[in-house]
Amino acid sequence: MPFHVVDHPLIQHKLAILRDKDTSMRKFRELVSEITLLLAYESTRRLPTIPVEVETPLCRTTGATLDCVDLVISPILRAGLGMLPGMMEIMPTARIAYIGIKRDESTKEPQTYYFNVPNHLENTVVLVVDPMLATGGSLCGAIELVKRKNPREIIALCLIASPEGRDRVLEDHPDVSVFVGALDERLDENCFIVPGLGDAGDRMFGTS
Ligand code: PRP
Repeated sequence: MPFHVVDHPLIQHKLAILRDKDTSMRKFRELVSEITLLLAYESTRRLPTIPVEVETPLCRTTGATLDCVDLVISPILRAGLGMLPGMMEIMPTARIAYIGIKRDESTKEPQTYYFNVPNHLENTVVLVVDPMLATGGSLCGAIELVKRKNPREIIALCLIASPEGRDRVLEDHPDVSVFVGALDERLDENCFIVPGLGDAGDRMFGTS
């Protein structure tokens, strides 16, 4: 299945605090980063490796090294920025490709306003990060843009998803693996995830 709910106790524990409307901005940022780190760990489990010879202090042995030239982390602005520290902590050499997409509040359709992704991604795994997968318009839009650069693989990471968002990504991009911390009940009439956590960008950056 390309859609994975990472049902790990540490993620569920941290998500419960993240959802709480009384959680402070500072704590919110910390938790987003921590949950991202756990999702990143799980989402990269199937990255290919090749054997590598290593000389330990005791003897020679065979280890494993990642068999991909390049990793690119692609945060969807703005809220995806909050996931960047967690991603970079375990992928410190990854390049960063920013994608600016804003959901139009009236039509709910995604509007792209910034796209700075490197060319020649043929041997690259691109990890697209956005805390919220609501209608799926923003993530699908980002994936479409990244696909034009012909990456080897795309993996998407979201903290919370709606069933509607899941279905849209699965239908439009069945070749993309999606890892989420929770699959919530539904979207409300404003296309907000319920129960959700509110507006991730606003809670992370102190806007409203
Ligand atoms: C939110 C969220 C996602 C998007 C999800 O961003 O961070 O990017 O909406 O909704 P969708 O699945 O229906 O497209 P928003 O557009 O509010 O922009 P922001 O991050 O700048 O606040």
